[in-house]
Amino acid sequence: MEQITQVQEQAIAAIEAAADSEELEDLRIKYLGKKGEITALVKGIRDVPPDQRGEFGKKVNEAKQAVTSALKQKQSGAGAAPGKPKGPMLDVTLPGRKRRLGRRHPISRTTEEIKRVFGGLGFEIASGPEVETEHYNFDALNIPKDHPARDGFDTFYLNDGRLLRSQTSTVQIRVMEKRQPPLRIIAPGRVYRPDIVDATHHYMFHQVEGLVVDENVTFADMKYVLEIAIRALFGQERKMRLLPSFFPFTEPSAEVFMSYDYVKEGKQESGWLEIAGCGMVDPNVFEAVGYPPGKYTGFAFGFGLDRIAMLQYDIKDIRLLTENHQDFLHQF
Ligand code: DAH
Repeated sequence: MEQITQVQEQAIAAIEAAADSEELEDLRIKYLGKKGEITALVKGIRDVPPDQRGEFGKKVNEAKQAVTSALKQKQSGAGAAPGKPKGPMLDVTLPGRKRRLGRRHPISRTTEEIKRVFGGLGFEIASGPEVETEHYNFDALNIPKDHPARDGFDTFYLNDGRLLRSQTSTVQIRVMEKRQPPLRIIAPGRVYRPDIVDATHHYMFHQVEGLVVDENVTFADMKYVLEIAIRALFGQERKMRLLPSFFPFTEPSAEVFMSYDYVKEGKQESGWLEIAGCGMVDPNVFEAVGYPPGKYTGFAFGFGLDRIAMLQYDIKDIRLLTENHQDFLHQF
């Protein structure tokens, strides 16, 4: 009888002190398992002399019940320390999953820089819509229907006859239709062309348009402004040259080249890179916007912005600019 009390007290003390469910399970086996100490006592009932068997049996059963309910209570978590979780562990000491801080896109950076440079020269920022009409993209820019020059500025058409602008030159017309000279504006923005996509071509890219209109604006003014801008953007050591070209909205027209140095097969080489088109605003354009004939002269230019960004940041493939890969974008 004394042994029963002793086992019961030991068992309950051990259960109460158990730290986790594994320890509880060990105790259950120790006391209530097939070879457990309480089980042994239950089995021993039959060996007790018949006159004491009743009392002994009752006490053993009470002990068994007390231990069982102590186990249950502890297992159900009443006051128990949490056991080992079944699922994967949550380690609260690990560093959190950090969200990478965003960075300014190379196109945005180059745009900002160009705005800053031309802003310093007294230019305003203008803009126009990307969905345009033929009037702004072609007709007013002296690119008549069925004229072969349209091919060079071919674009995507919407069902209603509108189109995605294929050049930012549209903004020249939008500004001149609303305002009188003197004008000094630049207009950065997106343009679209049905080009086959490769490392240097995309169906969507960026341009910066420029327009200066006033009395007595000359070709020399244009050359001066472009040269200053190129040096400010790429370095004072740069040289600029103009080669004759054709654009429907300028006469005369030129292509703008910038000197650059590069290494080819281990040798330092230098060459010329075309980075813009420019020219003196064609009188037909002034006529289209209703300026009095002969009163004003002006110059216009259009830079390929992606190309400038690619040069500035040594980006070899134009597609990288729109694919939105974090690892690429984080380099800038
Ligand atoms: N719009 C021309 C293009 O997309 C670029 C251009 C050339 C713009 C000459 C001009 C300009 O304003 O004067 O190829």
